[in-house]
Amino acid sequence: MQRRDEDSAGAPGGTAGGSAAADRALLARIRAAPVLAGPLPPFDPDRAPETPGPLFADWLGLALADDVPEPQIMTLSTAAADGTPSARVLMLRGVDSADCAFVFAGDSGSGKGQDLAVRPVAALTWYWPAHGRQIRVAGPVDVLGEEVTRRDFLGRSPASRAAAFTGRISTPLAGAEQYEREQRAAEALVAAEPEQVPAGHTVYRLRARTAEFFQGDPSRFHLRLRYTREGGGWSRTLLWP
Ligand SMILES: Cc1cc2nc3c(=O)[nH]c(=O)nc-3n(C[C@H](O)[C@H](O)[C@H](O)COP(=O)(O)O)c2cc1C
Repeated sequence: MQRRDEDSAGAPGGTAGGSAAADRALLARIRAAPVLAGPLPPFDPDRAPETPGPLFADWLGLALADDVPEPQIMTLSTAAADGTPSARVLMLRGVDSADCAFVFAGDSGSGKGQDLAVRPVAALTWYWPAHGRQIRVAGPVDVLGEEVTRRDFLGRSPASRAAAFTGRISTPLAGAEQYEREQRAAEALVAAEPEQVPAGHTVYRLRARTAEFFQGDPSRFHLRLRYTREGGGWSRTLLWP
């Protein structure tokens, strides 16, 4: 990989088409913005459970109890057939703590759907700033069956179901008029046939092969604990943060 020197404005990455002064001002603000300021919850890796699923459930449970904003939102990273990576945020739709597996849903024709069809492996990342906690998991991804898919879809709000029926995710949109027209048609379809599930709606299950827990510390003594699936169990390793 090529190393690129800082540009003359001092902002790593350069300022090719924009204003160097604006970029410098932004950089100053980034540097001044607090991060991992605390107070943050304690974490003792020596007392962590033998398997990662219960630790995930424990951290998510605390995030929910403490009203950490949207702790169910996570980043899903996939790779295309040629290796090009992409990431997007999604909603966590289910957890299997005993097996350290995570459920999410999307359209099979979307970018993630196309990636997963050719490379059924992915990573999920959560970051809960108020707790200074990051969780990363990675592993193979399976498509769940028709009944789970039906339940997942029919459990959504009518507006969310209608959006899925437009069947256009990740393709170019002509403009607001097309959006409005097709969304209204989809809403009418959902009202007329409330039990229908769009063909592309897919529920995926990622079974973690590795799971990593990062506990930030205001004085920068961060902790990282990685679990790796081995045979029928899990090994645990501390990592330099
Ligand atoms: C808060 C939030 C939650 C989202 N949840 C989902 C979701 O559960 N499933 C989904 O397919 N897209 C969800 N999206 C949209 C995705 O981020 C993304 O735009 C979309 O799935 C298309 O991405 P792709 O073409 O890379 O697959 C969500 C977006 C936001 C901002």
